[in-house]
Amino acid sequence: MVANVVKKAFYRFYLFQPGLRIWHWIQFLAILVLFITGLYIGDPFFIGSIGWEANDAYAHVLSMDLIRLIHFAAGYILLFAFLYRIFLMFTKKSHFSLLIPKFWKPWFWKGIIEVLLFYAFIKKSHLPLIRNPLARIAYVFVLLLIFFEIWTGFAMYGLSDPSGFWAKFVSNWTLAFFGSEYELHFWHHVVAWVIAIFVIVHVYMVFFNDFIAKEGELSSMTAGVKYFPEGHLPEDCDDVASQKECKKLREQS
Ligand code: HEM
Ligand code: HEM
Repeated sequence: MVANVVKKAFYRFYLFQPGLRIWHWIQFLAILVLFITGLYIGDPFFIGSIGWEANDAYAHVLSMDLIRLIHFAAGYILLFAFLYRIFLMFTKKSHFSLLIPKFWKPWFWKGIIEVLLFYAFIKKSHLPLIRNPLARIAYVFVLLLIFFEIWTGFAMYGLSDPSGFWAKFVSNWTLAFFGSEYELHFWHHVVAWVIAIFVIVHVYMVFFNDFIAKEGELSSMTAGVKYFPEGHLPEDCDDVASQKECKKLREQS
């Protein structure tokens, strides 16, 4: 048999409409900018304006003011992207269902064990799943962390404009909740690092699933589709298609 030509039939699942894919990549770019500028704000390791006359430094070199402006602009992009993701939940079944950790389904628990063994290179394969239980938990978790950054970020932002919208509606009670500005900065900083760790693991998992498990994982966030070989109908098929459709496919396989 010719190794690089394989004749197989596939189930094709259309998971994400273009809006969701664009949301994902815009969110990625916003967080990248926020992380880099945020680290700089917390610890200005490079003072671009040193040696310049004050007015020139402000206009021409990377001043702290400019870095903060970029951070806040990316912050607004992240806020609107987050609200858009909530809106997307109402536009397509899979945009909602694939985010739910379905702990009441037997495949969820079996999936956790099988996927862990698979990632540890102990098992060669796991239950066919469009989105595995660990990924579901991780995505809900990271979306909550992103919400936390937006919340604490705008609370700090409001402190520099005490009569503005953010100060009135977010900063005061948030500050009371955290106890001090120091705590607020501290937790905003800590969660930035937790998100960074998520991204490292997430990218590793995506490439692992694409190159090693050959699930066409990356294509789900570019082309919007995932393929499963015939006979391996995913257990969570009804997160994308109707129950009737999945039942029919199951009977045929
Ligand atoms: C995933 C998203 C975000 C990351 C990774 C991030 C990261 C950071 C980091 C590391 C700091 C430095 C904290 C310190 O050590 O004091 C910071 C500061 C700050 N961030 Fe964010 N941030 C994010 C989202 C936001 C959002 C949405 C806003 C809203 C406008 C925001 C507003 C601020 C403000 C006001 C400060 C303090 C600036 C200052 O003290 O001059 N951040 N951010
Ligand atoms: C700041 C960085 C990132 C964050 C916060 C993030 C977050 C997320 C979230 C929340 C989802 C679930 C989407 C949903 O159903 O709503 C997701 C899916 C996905 N992400 Fe990312 N992502 C990031 C970077 C990346 C990068 C750099 C890649 C590519 C190398 C990538 C590839 C994917 C793929 C392929 C999926 C779909 C996988 C699946 O359906 O399980 N992501 N990401």
